Amino acid sequence: MTTEHFFRSVVLREKAYHVSDDSAPVKLNQNENPYSPPAELTEALVADFRQFALNRYPSVFPDELNKKLAEHLGVHPDCILTGHGSNELIYSSLWAILGYGDRVFIPSPSFSLYGTVAGFCEASVLSVLPDEHTLRHDPVVLEEELIRHQPKLTILCNPNNPSAQVIPHADLTNLIQKAAGLVWLDEAYIDYSVNPTLVPVLDDYRNLIILRTFSKAYGLAGIRLGYLLGSPEVMIQLRKTKVPFTVDAFSQRVGIRLLEHQDWVESVTRQILAERSRLASELSRLSGLRLFETDTNFFIFKVLEKTAASVFRELVNGGVLVRNVSGYPAMADCLRVNVGTPEENDHFLKTMKMIFPAN
Ligand SMILES: Cc1ncc(COP(=O)(O)O)c(C=O)c1O
Repeated sequence: MTTEHFFRSVVLREKAYHVSDDSAPVKLNQNENPYSPPAELTEALVADFRQFALNRYPSVFPDELNKKLAEHLGVHPDCILTGHGSNELIYSSLWAILGYGDRVFIPSPSFSLYGTVAGFCEASVLSVLPDEHTLRHDPVVLEEELIRHQPKLTILCNPNNPSAQVIPHADLTNLIQKAAGLVWLDEAYIDYSVNPTLVPVLDDYRNLIILRTFSKAYGLAGIRLGYLLGSPEVMIQLRKTKVPFTVDAFSQRVGIRLLEHQDWVESVTRQILAERSRLASELSRLSGLRLFETDTNFFIFKVLEKTAASVFRELVNGGVLVRNVSGYPAMADCLRVNVGTPEENDHFLKTMKMIFPAN
C-alpha cells in the first residue's frame, strides 16, 4: 500500500514548489534585486544580533515594525499584517477567505501560488486569458468577467508576474468598485511601475487587500518579509489564520533598519530602471524574438524560430540563468529575465547576441 491514501486529493494533484536546479554565474531567474542592502545596515544588524535574547519568543505581531511601516506608508498600524514573506500571507489569508466551491477569479497568467493555494482550499478558480500579442488584459473584458462570475475573491497582480504587464490605475480602481467580493492586489513589483500604488486610497475601498513584499525593490528576499494592508475589520479576520510568531526577531529588526534606508531603496530602484531602459533598447535590436513591454524589473521575450527550452539551455551554457515561463497560459516559448547589475546585464546581452542575430 502507498502512503497516498493518507492525503487529500487536491494535495496529490499538486507538485511541490520548485525552482530550476540549473545554476549559472549570472543569476537572473527570480526577479531578485541584484543589490544587497548597504554594508552599514549589515553592520548595525550584527550589533543588534548580539543583544537578542534568543531564548525568548518574538512578539506575535511585530508591533515596532508595523509602527514603522505604518509611518512610512501613511496608514494606521491596525491596517497591517506582517508575514514571513508574502508567500506565507498568501497561504494563511486565502485559507481565511476561500472554502469548498467558492469562486475566485484569477486572470491568467498569474503568480502560480495563487492557483495552488486556491486549489488546496477547494475553491473554484475562474480565469481569462490576455491578448497573446501584448500579454495585456482588455479592462472591459476583465470587468465583464468580474460581473459575470461574481467571485468571492478576485486576485490581481499589478504589475503582473509573469507577464510584466500592468492594469492602468483608472481601470484597476474601476474593477475594485465593480467587484462585489474582495479584491486582492499583489503589488510585489509596484516600485518599478509607472502606475502609482493603491496604498494611499486604501481607505476608499473596504473590499481591497494589498500585498507587498520586501523581497524585490527592498532587496531582502533572503530574510522573508511581506505584509498585507486592508481595513482594520479585514485584518482582524486575517490575523486569525496567520501562523503565530513567524516574523522572527531578526527579520523584524532587518525590516526596521531597512525602512531607515529608504534612500538606498530609491537609489537602487533608479539604477535598475535605467538598466531596464538600456536592456530594452539593446534587446529590441535582435531578431528571432518578440520582446514584450515591461512595467517591472524583468522582461518577457518570446522565442520565434527556436524553442524557449533550447534558448534557455544556450543561455545557461553561456553563463546566464533565466526562467523558462513557457508553461504559463498564453506564454508558449517565452523566457523571463530580470534586470541585474550593469556587468550582469552586459554578460546577458553578449550571450543573447551570440544566440540571436542583430536586425
Ligand atoms: C507576484 C509575486 N507575489 C509574491 C511573491 C513572493 O514574494 P515573497 O518573497 O515576499 O514571498 C512573488 C515572488 O516572486 C511574486 O512574484
